[in-house]
Order: sequence, then C-alpha cells, then structure tokens
Amino acid sequence: MAKVTSAMIQKMRLDKDPVTMLTCTDASFAGMLDQAEVDMFLIGDSLGMVIQGDNSTLGVTMGDMVYHTRCVAKATNRALIVGDLPFGSYQKSPEQAIENAIELMAAGAQMVKLEGGVVMSDTVRFLVDRGIPVCGHIGLTPQSVHALGGFKVQGKSEEAINDLIVAAKALEQSGASAIVLELVPNDVGGRVTEAINIPVIGIGAGPYCSGQVLNLYDMLDIYQGRKPKFVKNFMADSSSILDAVKAYVTEVKAGTFPGPEHCF
Ligand code: KIV
Repeated sequence: MAKVTSAMIQKMRLDKDPVTMLTCTDASFAGMLDQAEVDMFLIGDSLGMVIQGDNSTLGVTMGDMVYHTRCVAKATNRALIVGDLPFGSYQKSPEQAIENAIELMAAGAQMVKLEGGVVMSDTVRFLVDRGIPVCGHIGLTPQSVHALGGFKVQGKSEEAINDLIVAAKALEQSGASAIVLELVPNDVGGRVTEAINIPVIGIGAGPYCSGQVLNLYDMLDIYQGRKPKFVKNFMADSSSILDAVKAYVTEVKAGTFPGPEHCF
C-alpha cells in the first residue's frame, strides 16, 4: 500500500479524483479505514462531542489530541494523518501554534489543521516555512460556534461568499496544502474550489469540492446527538462497519455522495 502524501492529494485534485477523508480516533478504526483505502484520516476535535459527550469542541485539550493521534498513527500505514489543533492551542501567536503543532507531529500527525482564514494566514506561513504541512478550515468553523451564533450554514450572501474566497486564497498563498470547507451551499463549495489550486475537502459543502469528509461516528450512526442534513448513514445498507466505510469511499469516488438530500 503506497502511503498517501500531500503531493498525491494535490495530484488527485488535478485528476479530478475525489479525495476521501474520515475522522478517526483510535487504532482499531484506523486499521479498518486503511483497509477501505480512505485517503486521509482526521483526528478531529469533534471527538469532544462524539467521544467526550460535550456539546461543542471547545473543551478538547492538546493532551486529548496527542493521545488520539498516537492511537491512530500506530495502526495507519496508508492514509495521510491530519491532526486538529484544538481551541486555544494556536490563536495566541505563531509561536504558540508551532509549539503545539510540533507536539501533534511528534505524536504521528503528518499535517495539522487549524480554523480561520485571513486572520490565520501568517500563522499558516510560519508553520509551513518550518516544515509543518497545514490544512485550513473555513466556512462553519466549530471552534467559533458562539461567535457564529450556532452551527449555521455559512456563505449565504455575496459578501460572505467573497470573504470565503478571499480566505481560501490567503490560506493557499500562505502555503496551506488543503482546506476543509464546512457547511456552505453547493454553488459556494464550487466557487471556492474553483478559486484556488489546492484541494478543498467539503463537509456539507456540496458535490463540487475536490473531496469529502464526514465524522466517522455520524456516518456509522454511532453518535446519537444532532444529525446534520449533510450526513448519510452508511450503516443503513451495510452489513459491517468495513462495508459501510467502503461504500462511503465508493460513493465519494463515484460522485454519488453527497446527493441532493445532503446539500444546501
Ligand atoms: O473535527 C472535525 O470533525 C472536523 C470536521 C468538521 C472536518 O474538523
């Protein structure tokens, strides 16, 4: 199994081969998701909700992220491992960000993800210049849930769409390897994807992105909290978890997920 690299996901974008990403938080799931050939694993701070039972991601600590990154890295041979920098671990300064990014990389991450657009671009540049690949995250940024007034669809006015495009370009220019784009209407997903030359991995951002990501606990119907419209329950028609994950990979690659019922 060839290891997935940043260069490979870039080539997939060029070849219009959709990138598949799922959240992953432990060694058993990592082994299974690797078998299903999921391209990227995200140790997402959504673990604060689906594992720790909180109603937001704000309580997740660096200790939590390092622990779960280590668990995943031990069992991963193929996928590119992306570790989320949790709330409060990078917003203060580029120096704070690099200290924590180094901890995640030492635990086994091969890329770190942070939330924010233009305001984070100097930090992204600082990390990239020092050898740390970065994935941006714009649109609905869950660490800003209180500032955004809830888990609401973003990019609903022409001004907001322009802001998203400016943010995506700023992250690209700062050297980001990819961007997660969350909870925007389909056409906005397409416009942001067209505006830049790095992969845009959508979650609730429609079918025109370079790839898709879902939370594993959502798509396996394990999480019993809020069920966003963009989630498909892949267990419904599968007889095992492995089959459900394989169905996700097949549907994303074929462009049949997300369908109209998952979009805004
Ligand atoms: O933590 C997470 O699960 C995420 C996804 C929304 C991409 O950041």
